[in-house]
Amino acid sequence: MFKRSEQDKRPPVQIFVDGTAITARQGDTVSAALLASSRDVRRSTAVSGAPRLPYCMMGVCFDCLVTIDGVGNRQGCLVPVAEGMRIEIQKGKREIGK
Ligand code: FES
Repeated sequence: MFKRSEQDKRPPVQIFVDGTAITARQGDTVSAALLASSRDVRRSTAVSGAPRLPYCMMGVCFDCLVTIDGVGNRQGCLVPVAEGMRIEIQKGKREIGK
């Protein structure tokens, strides 16, 4: 979806997206890492199931909601990646307690 600059020399950070390891860069937000991963990272809304991708990248639109380390409905555009972080792409309605 997006291509990283070859001049980006920031240290790599390994995160897991739906169980698959991907390499982000130190300082990336979760949403930036997902968009740069070349994976299908579309979530689907709880009401209509419509696909969504991070849009505003500044905490306004809520189109970037993901589950991070077991906590749902986190705004990926506001959370920096951390080594070993586990991210799940939300699909439709969440179950209570997740
Ligand atoms: S991308 Fe808009 S709130 Fe995160």
